[in-house]
Amino acid sequence: HRVAILISGRGSNMKALVEQARNYEVVLVASNKPLAAGLAWAREQAIPTWTWDSRGVEKAAWESALDQSLEDHRVGTIALAGFMRILSSEFTRRWAGRILNIHPSLLPKYRGLETHKRAIEAGDKISGCSVHLVTEELDSGDVLAQAEVPIHQGDTEASLEARVLEAEHDLYPKALAEFVER
Ligand code: GRF
Repeated sequence: HRVAILISGRGSNMKALVEQARNYEVVLVASNKPLAAGLAWAREQAIPTWTWDSRGVEKAAWESALDQSLEDHRVGTIALAGFMRILSSEFTRRWAGRILNIHPSLLPKYRGLETHKRAIEAGDKISGCSVHLVTEELDSGDVLAQAEVPIHQGDTEASLEARVLEAEHDLYPKALAEFVER
């Protein structure tokens, strides 16, 4: 099964998806940030990459160029991994049921940004991460898999982020593997 990963930055989830791939193949890593650290890593692994700086570019033009690259690489499933650009409803409809995302909270709690800060401020005892289908509404598609992570006394945003990120690296490859088998 041919998978593309979309990133905007560090790419630690992308790395986990590549390193733990069993029943799928990462055939493309694409980014809206040419300097994303994850892109350099993907190139080192000889994974094909595609990038176009999306700043100041019309979304439809950017997405149709991406689409062309996805088609060229015969991609079946897209995995968003720290991809920070909201996809248009045209794009998400065209790829309906074939785009996954990982989000650092137990959805439906804390859609959007600053999830760890919000969980700590709310006094939550448990946080975690969710793999979900991407629809036109942000962080709102069907949840495919979740992992819980405890919030400890004295946790900071950074310490909680690190604990949740570790769970993400375990959850996402498993959820994607199950997804492509379905
Ligand atoms: C992760 O926390 C992911 O859940 C969120 O963005 C972050 C990306 O980190 N969507 P990385 O680029 O995979 O290291």
